[in-house]
Amino acid sequence: MNINKIQNLKNQAISSILEAEDKKELERLRIQYLGRKGEITKLIKELPELEVEKRKEIGGLLNDVKKAIEDALEQTQAKLQRIPPEDKEWSDITVPGEKIPQGHLHLISQAIKEISVVFEKIGFIRVSYPEVEWEWFAFEALNMPEDHPARDDFESFFVDQKPHSKYGRMVITPHTSSGQIREMQRTEPPIRMINIGRCGRPNYDATHTPTFHQFEGLVIDRGINVTHLKGVFDYFAKNFFGPKRKIRLRPFHFQFTEPSFEVDVNCPLCLGKGCKVCKGGWHELGGSGMVHPLVLESGGIDPRKYSGFAFGWGVERNYLMKSGLNLDDIRPLYEPDLRFINQF
Ligand code: PHE
Repeated sequence: MNINKIQNLKNQAISSILEAEDKKELERLRIQYLGRKGEITKLIKELPELEVEKRKEIGGLLNDVKKAIEDALEQTQAKLQRIPPEDKEWSDITVPGEKIPQGHLHLISQAIKEISVVFEKIGFIRVSYPEVEWEWFAFEALNMPEDHPARDDFESFFVDQKPHSKYGRMVITPHTSSGQIREMQRTEPPIRMINIGRCGRPNYDATHTPTFHQFEGLVIDRGINVTHLKGVFDYFAKNFFGPKRKIRLRPFHFQFTEPSFEVDVNCPLCLGKGCKVCKGGWHELGGSGMVHPLVLESGGIDPRKYSGFAFGWGVERNYLMKSGLNLDDIRPLYEPDLRFINQF
């Protein structure tokens, strides 16, 4: 038995007893230290096991400790007796209440909501497709053959090592374009789909996070051509970014669209003239193009009867471009720092 330990126990007991706020707590503390199985009682019961000299020394000390604890209990008991119960229950109803903190949607959820509304106004139907996808829907059906670089282990998060179905391996949905095939299989033209979903790719830098969101548009009907695509993008730019915003198309390549375009929006600061922030006057939004005939066929649609256009853009990227935040790093969107999140 160690003298220091006993002293510490005594200090701890006395300070918590003196701070006890009601009789119930006081009784609980009495039992904890002096009850039949209390901490001090236990030590006293162990005394006979000690050598004579030690027993005398520790025994004396324990007696003093017990006495001190009893005094503290008595003292606190008397103090609590003196406080009339009404005093404790009295409350001042004129004191301003404590406000319950109110949360708000995360910036990305706000963006998804706003994007949905803009497209719903022109008849697009919002859908959601799986966040884990078969290789066939994510690549094969989109005319991306097995040796396409995006199907490399370094470019996508594969869940399986080996294919275990006729659809190949499972992969964390690398882009919302797999939703094109799912939508074509689910329904028939005319199609006006807006698929907003979570995607994953193994990238991490100021403009890429391993988890991100895309919104994918798909329009299929008889006689759809590039002017429809451009019209929808113009409408989106004006309604989402603001009346002075414009888009432009740049030729590009995707396996699943032909022709393909990269879409830019003019800079919110210089409106396209070119400034320090944008350099050339424009910011990139994402990919688009006329749906490739082979993709229509994968979806079970006859390319001789129908044509369509598609686009798949990043939610985070588009939203930052709108709000004029001039954030040059999207990573804080995925970090739990409330000082950042609560600004929006
Ligand atoms: N899926 C493409 C990407 O993630 C974007 C895209 C969608 C391009 C639809 C063309 C048509 O980069």
